[in-house]
Amino acid sequence: MRTVYVNGDYLPETEAKVSVFDRGFLFADGVYEVTSVLDGKLIDFDGHAARLDRSLTELSMSSPVDRDELLEIHRELVRRNGIEEGLVYLQITRGNPGDRDFAFPDAEETAPTVVLFTQSKPGLAESPQAETGLKVISIADIRWGRRDIKTVQLLYPSMGKMMAKAAGADDAWMVEDGKVTEGTSNNAYIVKNGKIVTRHLGNEILHGITRAAVLRFAREAQMEVDERGFTLEEAKTADEAFVTSASAFVMPVVQIDDETLGDGTPGPVARRLREIYLEESRKAAI
Ligand code: PDD
Repeated sequence: MRTVYVNGDYLPETEAKVSVFDRGFLFADGVYEVTSVLDGKLIDFDGHAARLDRSLTELSMSSPVDRDELLEIHRELVRRNGIEEGLVYLQITRGNPGDRDFAFPDAEETAPTVVLFTQSKPGLAESPQAETGLKVISIADIRWGRRDIKTVQLLYPSMGKMMAKAAGADDAWMVEDGKVTEGTSNNAYIVKNGKIVTRHLGNEILHGITRAAVLRFAREAQMEVDERGFTLEEAKTADEAFVTSASAFVMPVVQIDDETLGDGTPGPVARRLREIYLEESRKAAI
C-alpha cells in the first residue's frame, strides 16, 4: 500500500485523514505542486519549491516547511514507495479552522494542512504519446484572473479535459481575447519557420517550471524564442506545436480543432526539445 504524508506523519493511504472543515475542501483555499521523478530522482525540485513559496506568499499563507524539509519529505516518499518514474504531488491548504467561514482564519491559530503523495508512472519518459502527438480542441478560457498562482481550483481544467474527451481529443487549449493562454494543465507553444512562440508570463498563465527550463535549453541550442501571445489561427497554420508540463515534459501537438499540423506527426523542434529536456533534467535531478 502507498505511504502518504500528512502534517508530519508518514501513513498508509487508508489511514491518512484531513478534516471536513479543511479550507482546501470547502473553498479550494490551497496551492499545489507536481514534481516528476526519473531514475528515482526529483526533476526541477528547486523550481517547484520556489514557485510554491511564491504561490503561498500571493495568498498570504506562510510556508510551513522550508526547502530542505520539503526535499527530505519528497525523497522519503519516493524511497518508501519505491518510485523510479512518476510524480510527487504536494498540496498545502490554509488548514482547518474548525468551522466554515469565508474570512481567512488567524494564521497563528490555524496551521496549514500539508499533504504529499506519490504516483508511480512507469514509462513516463518513454511515453507512446510523444511518438504520436496530441490532438487538442480550443475552448474559452473562463478561469479566474490569477492563474499564475498554482491553486487547487481545477474544476474548469477538469471540464476542459472532459470536453476534449467528448470531442475525441486529448486536451484543450484555452483562448482569451483571441489569444491562446495555455493548455488545461500545461503551457502551449507553436513553431513557425523555426521560431518557437509561447505566451509571455503574466497573471493569465501559470509560470511553468518546465517552460522555464525548456526555453533556457532552446536558447542555449541557438533556437529563436518569441514570448508573446499567439492567436488560434496562427496556431492552426503553424509548422508544429507542443505543450510542456512536469508530467508531460515536452509533448508534441499534431492537431488543433480540425486542423492537422504539418504532416500530422510530431515535428523536429518538439522532438529535439523533448530529447534535450529529458537528458539535461536527468543530469540535474536530485
Ligand atoms: N500542471 N499550466 C497549467 C494550467 C498547469 O496546471 C501546469 C502544470 C502547467 C505546467 O507547469 P509545470 O511545467 O510547472 O508543470 C501550466 C500540473 C502538472 C498538474 O496540474 O498536474
